[in-house]
Amino acid sequence: VERTLVLVKPDGVSRGLTGTILSRIEAKGYTIAELKQVHASRELLEEHYAEHVGKPFFEPLVEFMLSGPIVAAVFEGQRVIEGFRSLAGTTEPTTAAPGTIRGDLGRDWGVKVQQNLVHGSDSAESAEREIGIWFA
Ligand code: GTP
Ligand code: MG
Repeated sequence: VERTLVLVKPDGVSRGLTGTILSRIEAKGYTIAELKQVHASRELLEEHYAEHVGKPFFEPLVEFMLSGPIVAAVFEGQRVIEGFRSLAGTTEPTTAAPGTIRGDLGRDWGVKVQQNLVHGSDSAESAEREIGIWFA
């Protein structure tokens, strides 16, 4: 069965939205295979975000992801990668569609990085790579 890595980012955890977010994913019909709360290390984040190293938002992104606990989960189900990204909505929360996690629960807070509540793997290859990083 297909699997994806979902992160509730520090903004989601600190705003008390972990339960709401996990509940919305379960309500769509996906199941939790793994779940834990972690403080990420810089090394782990540099591996996770390897594709973004050197981009202007990279350092603010890492600082944001180090700013508090993260909830990491593996969800599974048919086409869960695509299904979760659809449920999450587009990257920028201000304009993400209503009905999505980012569109309903997020907005611009005037900081240097998009605080957009969640991460979801973008392909089967990314999912297996990222699950290996967060659930070694
Ligand atoms: P998608 O855009 O749907 O792929 O979401 P994503 O979370 O996978 O985004 P992506 O992998 O492109 O970038 C990782 C994270 O970096 C995002 O979730 C944002 O938090 C942040 N980010 C991405 N692009 C930008 C940008 O252009 N500006 C800023 N400030 N932050 C960004
Ligand atoms: Mg991405």
